[in-house]
Amino acid sequence: MQTIKDTLLTLARAYGATGRESNIASTIRGMIEPYVDEITTDALGNLIATRKGAGKKIMVAAHMDHIGFIVTHIDKKGFLRVHNVGGINRANSLNRRVVFANGVNGVLSHEVEDFNPASSPMSKLFIDIGARSREEAEAMVDVGDVAVYAPDVFEMGQRVSGPAMDNRAGCALLVEALKALESRENTVVAVFTTQEEVGLRGAAVAAYGVAPDEGVALDVTLCGDTPKGVKISVELGAGIAVKVMDSSLICAPSMVKALESAAERAGAKHQREVLTGGGTDAGAIAQSRGGVPSGVLSIPCRYVHSAAETVDLSDMEAGVKTLVEYLSH
Ligand code: CO
Ligand code: ZN
Repeated sequence: MQTIKDTLLTLARAYGATGRESNIASTIRGMIEPYVDEITTDALGNLIATRKGAGKKIMVAAHMDHIGFIVTHIDKKGFLRVHNVGGINRANSLNRRVVFANGVNGVLSHEVEDFNPASSPMSKLFIDIGARSREEAEAMVDVGDVAVYAPDVFEMGQRVSGPAMDNRAGCALLVEALKALESRENTVVAVFTTQEEVGLRGAAVAAYGVAPDEGVALDVTLCGDTPKGVKISVELGAGIAVKVMDSSLICAPSMVKALESAAERAGAKHQREVLTGGGTDAGAIAQSRGGVPSGVLSIPCRYVHSAAETVDLSDMEAGVKTLVEYLSH
């Protein structure tokens, strides 16, 4: 599991906020270049890598963006006011270290008076970057810059925790699958997508451009195995999850079957996932052009959309094996 771990650690530490993916895209490009025939980037910043083959054209999408905080304005004292980009849980965000693309650090904090972590709006939050005035702050950060949870990534046994497992775990799975893939049975178009966290925007245009015969998204999903946790059957460490439904799509039964039998053939541990909230890039792929049969391999993840999202490397390994087997037939 050393290689997938190294890939995951590298990707999890790279900056790449939603709508600001060029840095993570170039990191991924460097990793996959030797294993594909062609790499392009489209107008929305999707990184599109093609490995030509004989049969079907299969689009495999993993979003590389990461939820963050966009600076809306800077006050007189140099505090940055922010809005969320993607599904930020405010209670998970308080008094945390955040970092901008240019390396500027900050503390994300909140007004104290009348503050309720569950219900107070984003306008009650601010970032303190150590500036003593608006002028000092403006020399460090611009309105429109996006901060993310600082990349505090660490190992716990065979598990890895950090802020951007959603979805650098999916990106790492796709990178490792491209490295392992030997077959030229199908044309594989690996798309590292942008702006998933604000509504599957990158995947929507990429799917139109690629026009695949089948689509697979790789993303994280929730786990229900923590004390009094959310109601979902998925467990961390119980294998790669084959999605049946989420709020963005009902997976094509043919795809659920194909992914499950690929897992069986590969001898990979797998489980089923029904997620009652949240979507994935597969939702956009499924509804592109005249419709595309689509499915999802989900990596079980605890504490999703917090700064300590936690995945299990054995689930990711099972995902690599399953995906490679599926793409080879
Ligand atoms: Co997400
Ligand atoms: Zn995601």
